Amino acid sequence: MKNPFDHGGTVFAVARSLGLSPEELLDFSASINPLGPAPGVREAVAAAFDRLVHYPDSDAAGLRAALARRHGLAPQWFCVANGSTELIYLVPRLAAAGRGLIVAPPFSEYAKSLARAGREADYLDLSPADGFALSLSSLDGRLASGKYSLLFLCNPGNPTGRLISRAGVASILDLCRRRGTFLVLDEAFIDFCEEESAVALAAEREGVVVLRSMTKFFAIPGLRLGYAVGHPQTIARLAAQREPWSVNTLAQVAGIASLADLSYPRRTRELVAAERVRLAAGLARLPGLSPFPSAANYILVEITAGPDAAALCRRLLKARILVRDCSTFRGLDGRFFRVAVRRGGENDLLLAALERALAG
Ligand SMILES: Cc1ncc(COP(=O)(O)O)c(C=O)c1O
Repeated sequence: MKNPFDHGGTVFAVARSLGLSPEELLDFSASINPLGPAPGVREAVAAAFDRLVHYPDSDAAGLRAALARRHGLAPQWFCVANGSTELIYLVPRLAAAGRGLIVAPPFSEYAKSLARAGREADYLDLSPADGFALSLSSLDGRLASGKYSLLFLCNPGNPTGRLISRAGVASILDLCRRRGTFLVLDEAFIDFCEEESAVALAAEREGVVVLRSMTKFFAIPGLRLGYAVGHPQTIARLAAQREPWSVNTLAQVAGIASLADLSYPRRTRELVAAERVRLAAGLARLPGLSPFPSAANYILVEITAGPDAAALCRRLLKARILVRDCSTFRGLDGRFFRVAVRRGGENDLLLAALERALAG
């Protein structure tokens, strides 16, 4: 079988390999809203059951209208998809011929999508030594070669947690436009710091598409839902590339119900912000661990002394806790792991289990 620690959120495979049910594991490897789906989603999904005898609405008109209200743009600015992963695989088909440049450490699907589209990829490697800061001049140095028709950038970075401000993203977009590079901005986790989202920028300038996931903040990764925001012409081309009916009826109603509850985003941000501070402090207190600052619902941790991440993962699994070994991320190695920010009691369990695992 494939290494079950290779990606976050492989709870089914790991549970199977241990002869457990997924419910017996505490999953810190995928970064999902600890509040679970928004109120009203369960009822909306149950109520839509009888609609399963019809094909889904391929325009997702209700969901796009809800997204339009949320972002203050017309529905033509949105293309919904079966998770933002579907969009990651579609965007390379839109750009002019050329190589892709990926800001690293990256989500591994960017390189796979470029390869599937027959494009070569290079990396702009950010360094843990300076907290994964992205320097505009080094980006410009790479884009100046004229080789790159696409740039993949994730904000906030995953797994780094590092946030680029909206003004910083605006400068990156200006640079891309000057160099003729199409910007694919992955905002899968920006809901945790929505004020820095570049959706409004995408509405002002062409040459960018913003990818948003609804699976993390709205806690429905098993249903799959994401969307792209961009100029209506770009969106129409993207939508034309999709498989028919890729967004099922239950995902569409779950999306609409998720957006309907206006207090859930605020409650989520408050809980995650408070628990992130507490968890980071607890991690920093453990010998040999050094957490990076994060704007999202996960924390990247460097092991400065002690077992490597793989050994730590194995030891934590004995306590039925799953964390993300980051050695498979380009630019990171066996000294790094990532944990999701969950609810208070769960985070305490993680800290206690980590303390034991570090002791051997
Ligand atoms: C940075 C990033 N982008 C995109 C995705 C894809 O999310 P989804 O397809 O569930 O919307 C993930 C999933 O882990 C991710 O980490």
